[in-house]
Amino acid sequence: MTVGELRPPAAPRRHLLSIADLAREDIERILETARRMTSSLDREMKKMPTLRGRTVVNLFYESSTRTLASFELAAKRLSADTMSLRSSGSSVDKGESLKDTASTLSAYDPDVIVVRHPSIGAAALVARWSAASVVNAGDGKHQHPTQALLDIYAMQEALGRLEGLHVAIVGDVLHSRVARSLVQALDLVGADSTLIGPPTLVSRDLEALGCATSNDIRDLAEADVVYVLRMQQERMSAGEAFIPSLREYTALYGITPDRVRPGQVVMHPGPMNRGVEIDAQVADSEAALVVDQVRAGLVVRMAVLYDVLVATVRERIPAGVA
Ligand code: CP
Repeated sequence: MTVGELRPPAAPRRHLLSIADLAREDIERILETARRMTSSLDREMKKMPTLRGRTVVNLFYESSTRTLASFELAAKRLSADTMSLRSSGSSVDKGESLKDTASTLSAYDPDVIVVRHPSIGAAALVARWSAASVVNAGDGKHQHPTQALLDIYAMQEALGRLEGLHVAIVGDVLHSRVARSLVQALDLVGADSTLIGPPTLVSRDLEALGCATSNDIRDLAEADVVYVLRMQQERMSAGEAFIPSLREYTALYGITPDRVRPGQVVMHPGPMNRGVEIDAQVADSEAALVVDQVRAGLVVRMAVLYDVLVATVRERIPAGVA
């Protein structure tokens, strides 16, 4: 068998490529598994044998701190073998294609490949080219499903419910895979969302995602959760002017203490640009759930790895798995 020839999978594989692939019961099952995983965080011995003998490969073509670190730690906590490959410093620098890279890594028989890539659909392509289960860790401005899952996990932990919550997602929605995934996940669990930002970054056609839109920052007042997005300048071509200047964006849409009403919580997927989309006072306030989101990322990604490899819709989580 050559590197390019792949063995057919022994059993149907499960992937997590998009929130659109999930039903409400899938989300509830993953969140329930994550809650059970939480008990492991406070133990002296944090490792569980659940995925012993399995291999998880992280293949990242874009920079990451939270997603890469938490997938790596999640796999280790479940006793899987892990390997992380960033495109920079790998043979991608020598011109190797995504297909050849996926085929090469697949020759080591990984059980899961976690992929982040700047192109829409890259994770789905890896799922076609590899016998492994594939988890999308972000493909261009399309999807970041594990971010949405950890966000709704953190919301439920902080506010005690999801049904009927109103989440305002503020900022650069146009370039945001986080916003697209989160709107879909909120819709599935019975929460409402409103996208807020300048007309160039939040247009009416985004309502097709299943949300409301507004260009008026005052509409923030209606929300239980203020979800702040980063201005994604790396996805804007040189010469494109979506906003007059960052200073004007901050003045019109930046989340400052006076724009957050008592009782609201504030979330941000990170990395934050303090002083641009979010004021440092807000980021460090009691209302901010940013650290809770990071902590949720570990247990939710443990749950996702468990889910694609072990759980099925009808299967109960075995006692003692977490
Ligand atoms: N939120 C998020 O995806 O962060 P990283 O880019 O640091 O992984």
